[in-house]
Amino acid sequence: MLYQIYPRSFQDADGNGVGDLRGIAQGLPYLNELGVDAIWISPIFPSPMADFGYDISDYTGIDPLFGSLEEFDALLAAAHEHGLKILLDLVPNHTSDQHPWFRESRSSRQSAFRDWYIWRDPGPNGGPPNNWMSEFGGSAWEHDERTGQYYYHAFLAAQPDLNWRNPSVREAIHEVMRFWLRRGVDGFRVDVIWHLLKDAQFRDNPPNPGFGPGQPPHRAVAPLYSADQPEVHGAIAELRRVLDEFPDRVLIGEIYLPIERLVAYYGRDLAGTHLPFNFALLEVPWRARDIAKLIDDYEAALPPGGWPNWVLGNHDRPRIAGRVGPDQSRIAAMLLLTLRGTPTIYYGDEIGMPQVAIPPDRVRDPFERNVPGLGCGRDGARTPMQWDATPHAGFSRVEPWLPVAPGFARDNVEGERLDRASIHSLYRRLIVVRRRLPSLLVGHYRPIVATGDLLMFVREHESERTLIGLNLGGETIAVRFSDQQLWGEIVVSSGRDREGELVTGRISLRGNEGVVIALAPDAIVPRSIG
Ligand code: GLC
Repeated sequence: MLYQIYPRSFQDADGNGVGDLRGIAQGLPYLNELGVDAIWISPIFPSPMADFGYDISDYTGIDPLFGSLEEFDALLAAAHEHGLKILLDLVPNHTSDQHPWFRESRSSRQSAFRDWYIWRDPGPNGGPPNNWMSEFGGSAWEHDERTGQYYYHAFLAAQPDLNWRNPSVREAIHEVMRFWLRRGVDGFRVDVIWHLLKDAQFRDNPPNPGFGPGQPPHRAVAPLYSADQPEVHGAIAELRRVLDEFPDRVLIGEIYLPIERLVAYYGRDLAGTHLPFNFALLEVPWRARDIAKLIDDYEAALPPGGWPNWVLGNHDRPRIAGRVGPDQSRIAAMLLLTLRGTPTIYYGDEIGMPQVAIPPDRVRDPFERNVPGLGCGRDGARTPMQWDATPHAGFSRVEPWLPVAPGFARDNVEGERLDRASIHSLYRRLIVVRRRLPSLLVGHYRPIVATGDLLMFVREHESERTLIGLNLGGETIAVRFSDQQLWGEIVVSSGRDREGELVTGRISLRGNEGVVIALAPDAIVPRSIG
């Protein structure tokens, strides 16, 4: 079980309104109690913060805003003492334009670092070399007056893309990995890993037939040539080899692709990423049939031996509670923690943190600033962790960098820990049961029902079977099987009140209710219906 920390927003120990490493260290007992196994921390390296750390100017340091290398070492040691692993964010696709490599590269066409980035002459009409678009709006090419060429940036102009066809670039990033792995870091989440290689001929991207009003401008073209190139898998296999120089480390890839292309990132003979992040739940319409189909498609597409994973939220996408509402976010938690594969919890989702409406004068995200009004802004999912009901939610002594969610006095760690009916308590119970039942940890997935608002499936490992029933709507649903088929004990219920209840043959799920039922050893697993 992975837990993502957005470091600016977890806990501010030094009182400047931005979270830091000492703050994360303070939170370790909490994470331990929650029951997660590993923490992934979004970038903490020196950065001008044009994209809040995803624009790195030094890969082997810690930004003073977050702390120091000594504090990082202390955090790592403390995490390991708590039995928690730490994964860092590796951002190999681009650097900051303030990175010494880029400063050197842009200094002249003859620079030894020129070929570390992607420089091209202007197109035939003097404009950009091709039609590739920046994800954050406008052309992906920035003209450099001094040397008369354009450089490529898939994101901000302040985030020039490295040239992954240059072996020196690869070597340099491999050394960055070794630097952190030697310190004891347990692995990496690799930023936009499917972007690393671009078409060698820089062909124009085709128009995107699905493009329409309300979509961000970069969607006008389909990224056929600017991402997901076949050569990327060779580069990833090399990253994996570096990782494998050290025992027990993990490589996770950030990949937004349809399932059939996503699974290629396990690599040939599983020599790619251990876990290509599966973001399908971030997009799926919240309906039983759609979710069941998605699970089936994903399970069917996985390569033999490829271990699945599921993600409900991250720092780039709206909060689950905002997408499906507070009641269904409990059902979403039950789904996340009962599906087959490693779940990732985004900080604060476990206390039901909402998607926060950010007043225009508090907007910080460059995506929202560049492409305003389309709902692209990511600040609303990055607000300060709600620790308690004191001012600034116990996150900071001062006004935080982003506003705290309005409901923090009710929804916060301190209050929810004591409230046995809270979503936090549900997360904890699910995690405990997941650890206890091999069927939930490693068992097969078998679909049972996906009709209307009812989603049911079974997880089975040897003779142990667990049935999960989720009501995705607000109305009561009565389910009937034969007595022999639905025979067991409710071990987790979304509202807690039904735990311990024995079930034979029928069950009635209230609106927005979910149950996890440990089936009796002699129960016959119901056959898939609907
Ligand atoms: C990834 C990060 C996102 C960042 C982008 C550019 O998608 O998750 O936050 O803006 O890469 O680095």
